[in-house]
Amino acid sequence: MHRRAVLRRLLAAGGAAALSACLDVEFDDDAPEIPSGSPDDRPDRQHAWNAALETDEHGNRRLPRHHVFRSLSYVGEDRERDRGLVETALTDLERAYGASPDGLLFTVGYSPSYFERFGESLSVDLPPAGPVVPGENVRRDDADAFLHLASDHASAVLGAEAALFGDRPANGTDVSRLDGVFELADPEDGRRTGFVGAGLPADREGNFQGVPQEEVHEAAPNFMNFRSGLKGSQATEDRVTIREGRFAGGTTQHVALLVHTLSNWFDRSTQEQVARMFAPDVDAENVGPVGEELTAHNRVDPVDESALHEVADEHGVVGHAQKMARFREDGRPPILRRDVNTDHDHEAGVVFVSLQRAFEEFRRLRVAMAGLDIAASTPVSERQDNGILQYFRTHQRGNFLIPPRRLRALP
Ligand code: HEM
Repeated sequence: MHRRAVLRRLLAAGGAAALSACLDVEFDDDAPEIPSGSPDDRPDRQHAWNAALETDEHGNRRLPRHHVFRSLSYVGEDRERDRGLVETALTDLERAYGASPDGLLFTVGYSPSYFERFGESLSVDLPPAGPVVPGENVRRDDADAFLHLASDHASAVLGAEAALFGDRPANGTDVSRLDGVFELADPEDGRRTGFVGAGLPADREGNFQGVPQEEVHEAAPNFMNFRSGLKGSQATEDRVTIREGRFAGGTTQHVALLVHTLSNWFDRSTQEQVARMFAPDVDAENVGPVGEELTAHNRVDPVDESALHEVADEHGVVGHAQKMARFREDGRPPILRRDVNTDHDHEAGVVFVSLQRAFEEFRRLRVAMAGLDIAASTPVSERQDNGILQYFRTHQRGNFLIPPRRLRALP
């Protein structure tokens, strides 16, 4: 197993022993130290990570390599006092780590049920978590709060967790503890980890359920081979920012846990995969086996609903990106995807994080992705040949408001 895969396993294990082991692996030579930071370096919008992210030669942004997601219950009794504790802890964290992938990026969000328990109405389009597509059977993540921590250093993510929920300093800086204010909403399932990086999905120990051994391309950035999140198919941070009301400057976050069912994905030719992932008229040569021929655009042309039905009739298949391309405004979709790979419980999957100004914008896209209308009237069926629906199941959904930074502590 390679170093990166070892770090991924340690992050998934979590806890103090994993943190020590991570520090040994990441800093056993003369690797540079993790930079500390200042709260003044952080932007007003918690979700404004883009300026800090690395870009490739086409302007596509790369998310940090390691991610931890924690669904949290608020267990404090005095919200007024606890606000101060939370703000102090988060500000301490900003001193401990620089505001970059080399340090730590993070957001904290709150669910509609959090606001409901205080009898407050949320003046933002964000329903409680639940099914998005008719007939869908998903677990609801109704946790009060949701913390997303991300860094290129597994030890920074683990270190931040150990400081907030344990008693260790983070990167040499003391951090106030949050464990009297928040606890994991579900000790079994309230913590997830994720990873980003070309070659990582193929780099693993043993088999994953739902993914045949040795099948994922060795250079692939995700389990289905093709890279995603190209600049041209992502909303800008401005586009997903709430403009009015108390939470102006914030955004809404949808978090879905997707588990792959890829057994016959790898029996398909690259052209068949491209037809399902992109569109049937996209030439696989112009995409490349892992998407390496793409620049900042996915080569999918938007088609309206009736033309999409014609594609389904003619080719017997419609593409995943193709189903959603018609919702582009000024050439770009209304949602900003920050999804990462996961191998929770040895199941290959995706923690699908989507940011949007209003939840309805996500819902419209996700309903279009389900393509039930296409399945009702063309040779394409509800799951087969209907984009990539056959290749994953949605296990859980959660909805959270990410307030602007000034309101991030128990709003
Ligand atoms: C297993 C899960 C998924 C995988 C592997 C996946 C992969 C991809 C890939 C490879 C692309 C084309 C490259 C790009 O434009 O970035 C794409 C585009 C896109 N995907 Fe997904 N995706 C997944 C789930 C979802 C879900 C749940 C949504 C939610 C609605 C979604 C929304 C989009 C959008 C909006 C685009 C861009 C459409 C456009 O070009 O206008 N994806 N996805």
